[in-house]
Amino acid sequence: MENWAVVVAGPPSNQLLLLNPSRNSAVIKLLPTPPPLLTHRTFLSPLPLKLQKQTPFASCCSCNGNGNALRVASPSSNVTTELADIDWDNLGFGFMSTDYMYIMKCSQGENFSKGELQRFGNIELSPSAGILNYGQGLFEGLKAYRKHDGNILLFRPEENALRLRMGAERMCMPSPTVEQFLEAVKVTVVANERWIPPPGKGSLYIRPLLMGSGAVLGVAPAPEYTFLIYVSPVGNYFKEGLAPINLIVETEMHRATRGGTGGVKTIGNYAAVLKAQSAAKAKGYSDVLYLDSVHKRYLEEVSSCNVFLVKGNVISTPAIKGTILPGITRKSIIDVALSQGFQVEERSVTVDELLDADEVFCTGTAVVVSPVGSITFLGKRVTYGIDGIGRVSQQLYSALTSLQMGLTEDKMDWIVELK
Ligand code: COI
Repeated sequence: MENWAVVVAGPPSNQLLLLNPSRNSAVIKLLPTPPPLLTHRTFLSPLPLKLQKQTPFASCCSCNGNGNALRVASPSSNVTTELADIDWDNLGFGFMSTDYMYIMKCSQGENFSKGELQRFGNIELSPSAGILNYGQGLFEGLKAYRKHDGNILLFRPEENALRLRMGAERMCMPSPTVEQFLEAVKVTVVANERWIPPPGKGSLYIRPLLMGSGAVLGVAPAPEYTFLIYVSPVGNYFKEGLAPINLIVETEMHRATRGGTGGVKTIGNYAAVLKAQSAAKAKGYSDVLYLDSVHKRYLEEVSSCNVFLVKGNVISTPAIKGTILPGITRKSIIDVALSQGFQVEERSVTVDELLDADEVFCTGTAVVVSPVGSITFLGKRVTYGIDGIGRVSQQLYSALTSLQMGLTEDKMDWIVELK
């Protein structure tokens, strides 16, 4: 493939569009199955990302079940991009495989380098891998949005990079630099562009993983690490959609303890909530709200998101003290609320305060801003609002999502444009 740049691979999956800039020519190549690996370097060089987007899939058709290819605008040209052939109107928060994933490895004591894009697929791990045996792993979550003008937007991706680095330090893992993380996210999103939902239909959820992939037997950091990014188009996280969710306060099981790993996004934190969450769902609740493990009195967070309550003009949320995940949406909502004139308090919030709140809502990358319709604590059910979403939750949801989707001016400088 010397002098040829792989620009896009369109459906069917064995087609590659190759550009030769020196000869100013392009060819479609049919690949043997399975297709060869696309290295990060090959994918990017020598053409800038922008050029890649100006070249549409040449001979492939993505049909929306009825023979009509779905196309969306690409920026700065009259070229359109074909979308994947899925039901964009009914996206939930379920895994869907896409075209590419990103992989970068390093040994313990070394630094990450030379990541590459690969066809999405299963990965091979030693049964003795650190992640499988001792849970040495972290994940991140962020989203890409498609704008009407074809641009693709990421929301505060450097915050995810920094949080991953913080978590890696706690879990004794090497981590990609912020620059490596951002570059990896960008190339993975661009390579999977046809899976980004049309504006208003959802987003592309980006899931970076960092794991001890080397083999260990005794409890110790793994000798090798893998950084991987995969993506999946998503809609609303809760089956309720944007309708208020119903939470139950868990009084026996805890999500995190002082000195533990609740404040980093390690995979084990999420396995730990499954029992309480499953029991709650079996009783018809949407999810579980956890209390602190010492006093069993202060709010912590919900299984997959942070929690806020509203009383008059004051918005309160549990302070980050090691047991609560420092959510990027949490942080953003605090800033948005302050900019709108609310008073925001990060402090210890008692479960009793829930009984007296005007509104309660949850925040997270996956859930965005999710209004809470009711909370059940020790058999007592408190409801919020008369017929649905509280005014403040609605206001903050609109402000945040308008920013994320590029519908309002980005005064906070939070948006990264990919084109
Ligand atoms: C996210 O909001 O990205 C999360 O990490 C939640 C996830 C557990 C679904």
